[in-house]
Amino acid sequence: MKSVKDINVTSKRVFVRVDYNVPLDDQFNITDDNRIKETLHLIEYLMEKKAKIILASHLGRPKGKRDMKYSLAPVAKRLSELLKKEISFAEDCIGEAVMQSVSRLKEGEVLLLENLRFHLEEEKNDDEFAKTLARLCDIYINEAFSVSHRDQASVTGIPKFAGESGAGFLLEKEVKSYYDSVEKPRKPLVAVIGGSKVSSKLDALMNMLKFVDKLIIGGAMANTFLKSQGIDTKGSMIERDLLETARQIIQKAAEKGVDLLLPEDLICAEKFDKDSKSKTVLTHEIPDNWMALDIGPKTALRYTKAIEEAGTIVWNGPMGVFEMDPFMSGTKAIANAIASSKAFSVIGGGDTGLAAKKCHIEDKVSYISTGGGAFLHMMEGKILPGVAALK
Ligand code: 3PG
Repeated sequence: MKSVKDINVTSKRVFVRVDYNVPLDDQFNITDDNRIKETLHLIEYLMEKKAKIILASHLGRPKGKRDMKYSLAPVAKRLSELLKKEISFAEDCIGEAVMQSVSRLKEGEVLLLENLRFHLEEEKNDDEFAKTLARLCDIYINEAFSVSHRDQASVTGIPKFAGESGAGFLLEKEVKSYYDSVEKPRKPLVAVIGGSKVSSKLDALMNMLKFVDKLIIGGAMANTFLKSQGIDTKGSMIERDLLETARQIIQKAAEKGVDLLLPEDLICAEKFDKDSKSKTVLTHEIPDNWMALDIGPKTALRYTKAIEEAGTIVWNGPMGVFEMDPFMSGTKAIANAIASSKAFSVIGGGDTGLAAKKCHIEDKVSYISTGGGAFLHMMEGKILPGVAALK
């Protein structure tokens, strides 16, 4: 991948694909601006190098319609505040008015385009649309790690038509942190995988078995593993069609000498409700119709011990329903253990990033990814289409 640092950007029109898909409240206030902050380093570098900067992003899934609920206008305002500089905002991402705004850009100035997904052609990866976007610039930079698992016009289309293409600082940092952790890890390498479904993490589990020393499993996906071992998980969420697969994963781990850790106790509840009656039980003691909603304290202790001994940690997926306080102690124990560990630690974004934030450990880990789906894509052993397009 060519780095933006290897490209002469001075006086050039540089199209930067960023991921400003940020959460907004009912009043259109940004409730988490981390993804914007993570791009400041590159934007300031380009400003210093006197490039003419065109920023483009999607926000939400407006399905090709111009829906102001998904406008990037609040992002333009926040970006201006963070850069302490006025930036321009274009009301579309293609068309005559946009071309004119780009041609008016002076060196070091910034223009943010309106939501790319207001055009269906973006998600369809339409070549004509990609060409039109490419015509706006001399150089294309991908700084949108978290959408780089999507084969869309502004991610994989534009590099086919732009004069020169390269990776931004955030994309480089994300990809390097992940590959450093799995390709040249300080041993032992411990992967902590949680979340609700085995199905959504199946490829990641299979791939991680190739190089991890320990595989810690939590979250509702652990129920399917427990059930596959003959444990009656009662009313807990399981994926019946994956019982055989879960059995095979356990067998494969044993063949490869990977230590696969499953819960020995659980916090279970009568209902899926934060105010429900709940109690801690051994895995085979779940009361009839009750459901497991978190790992228990004995399990948390065994998992944190494995984390303490790790040289490298990759964490993706919460251990329980961390959004409800009574069921967040397992996730909190894992987060705190990672925060106190001296290991190189990489945390996948999405839910796991939110959990890390809720546990206030953001500053105590080596790296928290800005991407959920993109991070998982790498865990599955696949090359991100957005990265491949730059090669
Ligand atoms: C994300 O938030 O994961 C990225 O911005 C990708 O968004 P998408 O899932 O709508 O493509």
